[in-house]
Amino acid sequence: MRKLIVAGNWKMNTTVPEGVELAKAVVEKSAELPANVSLIIAPPFTHLCPVAEVLKGSKVALSAQNCADQTKGAYTGEVAVDMLKSVCCEYTILGHSERRQYYGETDAKLVEKVKLALAAGLKVILCVGENIDQRNKGEHFQVVREQVENVLFKFTAEDMANVVIAYEPVWAIGTGVTATSEQAEEIHCFIRSIIKEKFGSQVADDMTILYGGSCKPSNAKELFACPDIDGGLIGGAALKADDFIKIALSF
Ligand code: PGA
Repeated sequence: MRKLIVAGNWKMNTTVPEGVELAKAVVEKSAELPANVSLIIAPPFTHLCPVAEVLKGSKVALSAQNCADQTKGAYTGEVAVDMLKSVCCEYTILGHSERRQYYGETDAKLVEKVKLALAAGLKVILCVGENIDQRNKGEHFQVVREQVENVLFKFTAEDMANVVIAYEPVWAIGTGVTATSEQAEEIHCFIRSIIKEKFGSQVADDMTILYGGSCKPSNAKELFACPDIDGGLIGGAALKADDFIKIALSF
């Protein structure tokens, strides 16, 4: 069964006390959600411990925004998958376009990270998506195909049960410009077809594919109504509990 998910990527926002308050508000409002919708929040590393306490016993799962490509040792500033597991993270986001763009995250590095995350029992939200130049040149299908193939094709059909894909067109992230539901559905359907080619129809049918990029309460309903859009990865609108829950109520 395909899972419907709304995940909040807080990026580098909120202090720890602010984050704890935001998490409490999300938990409180999550009572309004139908049982078939899963909520995830991904605060900064510094917040994971106190936020995990807030989420205990709630239906909101905890995610990191990244993890190291090594298990432990002399890697200053990095955070390993076992550390994330030890503070009750269930998921980690990987390959966000901001990581790819500003921190040189390559598909090869992502393969290592996905490997470590899955081996540690973390679920992965793998982000893919084209930038504006690539879209303008009509290369978006090829770019997304390569991102999916370069990383996920190194794994097995069984592994896919612990992977969520987030399609995030870079030109829509934080810009206020959202992909139209037709543009988003077209790529989501394409991604599902790539998964089907490699792993078969059952895996493809069960794969949760999220849309990200200026998703907000005003456009979530139209996006989530598309057959291949199974929820959202939300940035800016996840910093307001009301908006985040409104988005989650849009299925
Ligand atoms: P946005 O960010 O909702 O602020 O556009 C989405 C994301 O980067 O995950």
